[in-house]
Amino acid sequence: MSFSFICRKNILHSLILLFTGLFFSGCIASPPVRVQEPVFTAPAESAAPEKTARPEDYWPSSVCLDCHDRIFRQHSESMHAKSFENPVFQAQYFNEVLPRSMKTEGLSEEARGCIACHAPVAYMKTKGYIFSRRQVDSAMSGVTCDFCHTIRGYKGPRPGNANYISVPGTQKLGPFKSETNWHHAYSELQTKSEFCAICHERVNRNGLEIMSTFTEWRNSIYAAKGIQCQDCHMNVRGFLTAGKPVYESGKAARMRLGYAPYRKRLYTHRFPGAHSRTQVEGALTLDMGTEVQAARPGSEITVTVYVDNSKTGHRMPSGSAELRLLYLDIYAGYGDRRIPLPAVTKTTSMYDVSGKGRFDGSILGDGFPPGRRIYRAVCIDKNGRQTLSSYDAVSIAFDNRLNAAEVRKETYRFRIPGDAKGILSLSARLYYLSYPAPFAARLGLPAAEPVEIASVTKDIAIDE
Ligand code: HEC
Ligand code: HEC
Ligand code: HEC
Ligand code: HEC
Ligand code: HEC
Repeated sequence: MSFSFICRKNILHSLILLFTGLFFSGCIASPPVRVQEPVFTAPAESAAPEKTARPEDYWPSSVCLDCHDRIFRQHSESMHAKSFENPVFQAQYFNEVLPRSMKTEGLSEEARGCIACHAPVAYMKTKGYIFSRRQVDSAMSGVTCDFCHTIRGYKGPRPGNANYISVPGTQKLGPFKSETNWHHAYSELQTKSEFCAICHERVNRNGLEIMSTFTEWRNSIYAAKGIQCQDCHMNVRGFLTAGKPVYESGKAARMRLGYAPYRKRLYTHRFPGAHSRTQVEGALTLDMGTEVQAARPGSEITVTVYVDNSKTGHRMPSGSAELRLLYLDIYAGYGDRRIPLPAVTKTTSMYDVSGKGRFDGSILGDGFPPGRRIYRAVCIDKNGRQTLSSYDAVSIAFDNRLNAAEVRKETYRFRIPGDAKGILSLSARLYYLSYPAPFAARLGLPAAEPVEIASVTKDIAIDE
């Protein structure tokens, strides 16, 4: 699609909006607004997207830029805008899933599923049969503004596996209860976790719940308290501050002509997660305790590290749990000497918390020093081997991820060397790794950099 075409289309859309807006705001007795009833279950068959939707009617996000510039900028930074362009997705889809789906039974359904979540507008147009990047309009490639704001419900009893009912059109469903008569209509679904679950909950072709962020949330204290995904991921910080969300406020639209009211609560569209760590610094925290105030050379010391996941409304890592790693490094030393810490004792034969299990070497890579405490889920394929491919997993063999709102206690007990003097320095660092090195190598991607997300240090005087 050429640039000038996009521009012309934008102007056209803006004009339509402007006229409807001016018409409505010009009326003294405003016409009745059709308040959209939230649809939580599938309506009659005729509302199914295949029958009513015309994918070409979806608007590119650049149209929304004209009036929702603040939201547009936030959205551009989000992984939603990049969910198809994301090189990690493209490598896995085009280099592995697609070629294999031609010859493996059941995998072609799975391949269409990839498109349903990662390029939903293209899915509506092609039913998910995407064989080349060129089939996907780059102006509408990710999870677009218009796609989210035209989801009316989901098919079946539970949200998940992209079972959305999306009907493109001039109405944009959102959180405002019809105080102005712009192109919008109130929809309860957009304010609830069920909305996110449509794409953040996934069962693969083997019947394994491979992505369960919504289920994890539903089992958490946050669901019980009524704190939705939106309350954390769409507030200013990306997590709760003193147990409460802090929202943006202002105008939802910046209008050249026409009026938009001041809103006390606006929703941020950056959607911080694993890919936008700078915004979620402080989301997970570490604390450290020791049994003694001063340490004697030759004596034993117990150090406790608390890994605090209390600001997260689901397990951590979550999402593509087969790939993600969270790990804890601890250091003890004095002067320039490091005190070797004893290895972790709790192990299972195949995978363990320190990455020294029988199968760990090939998955974690040589560069992954053993002795760390790793929080992860290990998915295995039908041959019992750990797999980093969501679509091949048949079960979860090992899972010690942090639970929602959990504070995990890690204890280290070691002896202070007899000749130690000065200050005993202790530190703990928590890192997040999007995927291990062998996964990157397999797909020809650059290695993911581990990111430090929390740290804590403590100095203790060593008795003379
Ligand atoms: C992943 C889905 C998703 C995408 C993509 C998305 N939104 Fe939203 N948006 C929401 C949800 C959900 C809410 C309401 C949150 C609530 O009420 O809890 C919302 C709220 C809004 C609102 C109400 C005002 C406000 O700021 O809270 C506007 C306007 C809006 N979105 C416009 C946009 C525009 C424009 C884009 C693209 C630049 C966009 N949205 C992209 C899900 C999305
Ligand atoms: C039900 C919706 C859904 C389906 C189906 C789906 N995904 Fe995803 N995918 C997501 C979501 C949501 C995330 C982001 C969660 C996270 O942080 O891991 C994601 C993340 C990923 C990532 C991680 C990207 C990164 O930068 O680390 C890859 C790779 C990926 N998906 C590939 C695929 C492939 C290949 C398929 C098809 C076999 C697929 N997905 C099917 C929703 C889906
Ligand atoms: C010509 C200006 C204009 C354009 C272009 C525009 N909007 Fe809006 N939009 C508005 C105004 C004005 C409001 C009302 C704001 C309010 O009530 O606070 C609004 C409200 C919304 C709401 C809130 C709905 C509700 O009931 O909660 C959503 C969602 C929304 N717009 C989405 C979009 C999307 C998606 C696009 C692009 C496809 C878009 N808008 C393009 C002017 C515009
Ligand atoms: C139409 C499908 C869809 C809907 C609806 C949706 N998402 Fe997503 N979301 C995705 C996909 C696909 C990705 C993965 C992008 C990638 O990494 O390639 C994603 C990524 C994210 C990420 C970033 C994860 C990371 O690793 O950085 C967060 C956070 C997120 N979504 C939260 C939400 C929340 C909260 C909602 C509900 C308000 C929501 N999403 C609704 C499809 C969706
Ligand atoms: C109580 C607040 C809270 C709630 C509720 C919440 N989240 Fe999160 N979420 C977080 C925090 C904090 C993180 C960690 C950010 C980081 O450092 O990666 C996170 C991370 C994520 C990630 C990235 C996970 C990973 O391992 O990379 C995704 C995807 C996500 N959330 C989606 C959702 C969805 C979908 C819901 C609703 C079902 C939801 N979240 C509910 C706070 C919350």
